[in-house]
Order: sequence, then C-alpha cells, then structure tokens
Amino acid sequence: MCGIVAVVGSREAAPLLLEGLRHLEYRGYDSAGLATVHSLVSEDQGQLTCLRAKGKLINLAAMIDQNGAPGNLGIGHTRWATHGKPEECNAHPHRDSSGCIAVVQNGIIENHRALRETLEAAGVEFLSETDTEVIPHLIAKELHLLKLEGLPVCEAMLLTAVQRVLPKLKGAYALAVLWVETPSALVVARRQAPLLIGLGEGEFLCASDTPALASFARTILPMEDGEVALLTPLGIELYNQKGDRQKRSPSLLSGVNHVADKRNFRHFMLKEIHEQPETAELWVTRHLPEGLPADAPVALPFDDSFYFGIERIEILACGTSRHAALVGAYLLEQFAGIPTAVFYASEFRYAAPPLAPNTLTIGLTQSGETADTLAALAMDAERRENHGDSAFAPRQLGVTNRPESSLARQVPNILDIGAGLEVGVAATKTFLGQLFAFYGLSLNFAARRGTRSKEEIFSITQELRSVPNQLRSLVKMHDKLSEELAHKFADTKDVIFLGRGINYPIALEGALKLKEISYIHAEGYPAGEMKHGPIALLDPKVPVVSIAMPGVVFEKVLSNAQEAKARDAQLIGVAPEGPDTNLFDYLLPVPKVSEWISPLFSVVPMQLLSYHIAAHRGLDVDQPRNLAKSVTVE
Ligand code: F6R
Repeated sequence: MCGIVAVVGSREAAPLLLEGLRHLEYRGYDSAGLATVHSLVSEDQGQLTCLRAKGKLINLAAMIDQNGAPGNLGIGHTRWATHGKPEECNAHPHRDSSGCIAVVQNGIIENHRALRETLEAAGVEFLSETDTEVIPHLIAKELHLLKLEGLPVCEAMLLTAVQRVLPKLKGAYALAVLWVETPSALVVARRQAPLLIGLGEGEFLCASDTPALASFARTILPMEDGEVALLTPLGIELYNQKGDRQKRSPSLLSGVNHVADKRNFRHFMLKEIHEQPETAELWVTRHLPEGLPADAPVALPFDDSFYFGIERIEILACGTSRHAALVGAYLLEQFAGIPTAVFYASEFRYAAPPLAPNTLTIGLTQSGETADTLAALAMDAERRENHGDSAFAPRQLGVTNRPESSLARQVPNILDIGAGLEVGVAATKTFLGQLFAFYGLSLNFAARRGTRSKEEIFSITQELRSVPNQLRSLVKMHDKLSEELAHKFADTKDVIFLGRGINYPIALEGALKLKEISYIHAEGYPAGEMKHGPIALLDPKVPVVSIAMPGVVFEKVLSNAQEAKARDAQLIGVAPEGPDTNLFDYLLPVPKVSEWISPLFSVVPMQLLSYHIAAHRGLDVDQPRNLAKSVTVE
C-alpha cells in the first residue's frame, strides 16, 4: 500500500512533497517521512535530510517546521504498515548504511528475507523490519561496484545501479531513489504498482496517484510496468525493462478533483452520506435523460457490440465494492436474466473458475487502484487471450469513481460512477454510485435481451428518477434518528445484521460499516440462515438489525426477526412503517418502494447508524485504525 511522491526542480522540495503526501494519505497513514538533498556549492555532493514520524502526516509536518528539510530534490512517503509495526524505525525513507542513499517504496518485496540474509552475511546492519530496507543496501552495493569499474560519479551511474538491482526484486513495487552524490537526480521505477511522472513548470515529479500531482503538473506520463526513469531538472529519460529508451508523449492531467472540503460537517463521512441525493441526482441527469430508445433505456457510453452475445458475467471486487457487486449480480440475474457470479478479487487471482465463453468480466473498484482487483482482471485477460478461441476472448468492463485511475489504463471499457471525491475511508456515496451503475447495466441488458417488458423497464426508470428527492428527506430523517439510537447502542459488543434477497448484501454492508469505523464486532447473514447456527449467539445484549423491505421475502424476513425476538434479542427494523413492522423494538423507517430499488434506501440507515455510533464513541471516523482508502498491496 502506501503512497510515494518525489520531485526534482528549482523550488524547495519539502512543501511540494508534503502537499503531495496530503493527497496520498488515503493510501495509508501509519507513518510518514521524507528525504531531501540540498546541493552544497562548495562540494560536489549534497546534504541529505531525512525526517520520519509515526502517525499521520501532521506529525511529519511539525517535524519539518522544527528541523527544516532544505533542497530541491526530495522523496516522500505515507505508510500503511505491511512489514514491521507502524513505528518510526519502519517509516520510509530507508537508507543504506552510509546514509547517502534514500528510498521510498510502495508494494511488497516478496524475496526480502533471502536478500536480507545475504546482505547481513556480508556485514550489513539493518535498522528496520521492513522489506524495503534491502533496496538502498543493494543499490549501495551496485554503486560501489560501478565505482570499482572506474565509472565517474554521474546521474547515469545511479540509474545503472537501480537497473541492476530491479531484476533481483520479486514482487510488486513503485519506488523512488535519491543519492547525495547526484544532487539533481531522481530515479523512479515501477512493477505492478502505479507510478506517474508529472511534468511541472521547471520541475519533474513522480507520484503514486494523480491527485498528488494535480497542483503542480499540467501533463502526466503514466509509467508502464517494468519501466525505470531518470528525472533531472533538464528532463526525463525513460527505459523499459530491457533497458531500451522509451519515447512517449505525456497526456493532459484533467478532471482530477482534489479539493477536499468538509463544509460544515463534523466528518467527511457524514458529509459524503449527505451528498448521496446529489450522487443520485447526477446519475439520473446523466444517464436517464427523457426520450431514450426502448432498447437502450439508460444512456451508457457503450455501443451495441458491448452488449452483444454476453452469456455470463463475472464481477471481481473487494470489501464494500463486493457488496455492491452482490446487489448488481442479483439485478443482472433476476432482472436481466444473465447468470452472474461475484468473486473476492483476492480469491479469484489464485482460484478462478474454469473459463466460460462469452463472459463479461467486471472489475468494480471505486478507487480504481485496488491491487487485488487489478491483478485479478489482468490474470483473467491473460488466460483468456491465451485460450485462442474467440468465444473466450477477454471482454472487460471497469466500474470506478476514478476514471483517470490505473483501472482505466488497464481495461478497455470504463463506467464512471461520478460520485465525486470521497475522502472518508468508509465508502458511502461511492457504494450508492456503484448500485446505480448496476441499475444502468441491468436495465440495458434486460431491454436488449427482452427479458423484461417495456412496462416493467419503464416503471423502474421512473422509480429511479424519483430516488434523489426521496433520498433527500430520508438522509435528513435518519441522521437524527440514528444519532438518538446510537446513544443506546454505543457500548454494544456484537451486532447481527439480517437481510434477504437483494437486501442480503445490504446486511453485509451494514456489518462492515459498523466494524470498520466503530470497531464493534458485527456480522451480516442471510436472515434464513440464522437458525443454522448463528442464532446461538443471540441474547438480550446482542441487537439484531433486520432489513425488511416489501417484496418476495418480506414475510420471511419478518418471521426470521420474530425468531430472533423469541430469543430476547433487541430488534432494530429497517422497514416501512405499518402494522407488519410493529414487532421491532426500534424502527428505522424507509419508504415503500419496489423491491428492485430498495437497496438504494435501506443502505442509508446502515451508514448513519454506524457513523453515529463511531462518532459517539469519539473515534477517528474518517481515518479508522489499520485501514486505508485504497488498498494497493495484495
Ligand atoms: C469499506 C471500504 C473497503 C473498500 C475496499 C475496496 O468501507 O471502503 O472495503 O470497499 O477496500 O476498495 P475499492 O472499491 O477502491 O476497490
């Protein structure tokens, strides 16, 4: 995981690095650090300053204020701990034994143990538990050998040393390296982890993601897998894995909204929950204009060939995105009649089902950067390309909130959910945006395949049009109701969430939201499954949140809730008001809508209840412990 940023130019590097890191904190916030090199006019080489602080970026900023970090060349890092605890000693940058080479890295060096043992046997002393620390030591060794070979110290020397080290590293990495002896040179490289070069005015930058570059660069050059680059104030030299010089034109950096404004809300998460009516409104305006043809009731950016001949859909996703995928699969199967399977991307990579022909593979990731989802998509494309039979050829779609992300560079078709910047680590409005994407796909597939009548399709599109307004009043009402309820349940140790059919994934999502921001143990189950074991957990101290939306399983869910009540559980119902729902001890009322669109409403009380419980407990709602907004390691 982690975020890296690097700069070489004519300005002071530290403020740029800090600003860049601020936009990368979503990739981890266990610790942060930077290294700068200050050119000394009197000597050939520079002076290296390395500052690292445990915890959030604010701690590093204070350290820089106190100590200063002069120089126009620098690298920075924000960490999500993989190897080694989130302590200062494990924070990046890591240096070689002489302290002259500094490295920041994102990814995991899988053979670090073997490399470390070899280096230790040669007398190298390690100061951290990280996988990264092997890299500066290996570079130092190569630089030493190059010097022995008689090469004069120059920027190309650092590049060559890094190029010699890279083949020794197994795993995924994006890294940036600096060396005091070449105070105007930065070497950067990537394999299976994103890295983009930014072209600024009088400076070149490099970062894990575009928001870190947006304030400084007009154009970007995304690095391709296996590439390494030398950046100096005079320009960029880019090489592929074989060492051949690459020439590519940079592209314009546009459409990156990096302005994070909490408005008057206490937390970003609360603001983002309140923005959901807007997310819905935007989607309706963009995708449901009046007067669309009957066979394409939703305006999506795909032509006929996209829909043609699809017999199966496989969706790869993680976390909350996977829950949206489960709702999507329900719609694609039950509404549009296409067999659809959802996979944890991390499982699919190593245990994919046998290849099926004419399959659309959907990668669902709001960030567009989740390593497992990207790798699962790449693996699937590769095995399909190798198959040879055109019926098995890859047909891939990426659904994301970040149309400029790595996902968009990897798959040919992209559906932008357009939810706008989401800062809170817990996904809320992007989840809603993902659901809308599946309504769009399912309606278009159903219309083309004739699996639903024109009237049914029309009725759903009309219902979707009224969602923004209904959500407006729902969010307001539940903000208040959930806050009141949160006081009662803030000290609870375990909560069970029940749902069925299209609302079963919403029960999973309710449990995940509660776990990740309030640290309360929660489980989501299909309501009918309770009696097969989990019901043993129930007692008066375990509240049960039951999602009961009118439809095919309404009465069944109510019966399952009764079964929980009979075991003295406290029942919280997410259901429309009415005589049927009197059994709940507490009711979080939702409008009586068609079951098809009910998840768009039932998820709101889940989000707000979790939010208010976490806020009541005084927790860091927007940056919960151990998490990151974008999971860029396997
Ligand atoms: C939960 C959450 C995570 C993400 C998961 C996938 O609130 O945000 O579970 O859903 O890490 O992230 P994306 O959608 O970026 O692939």
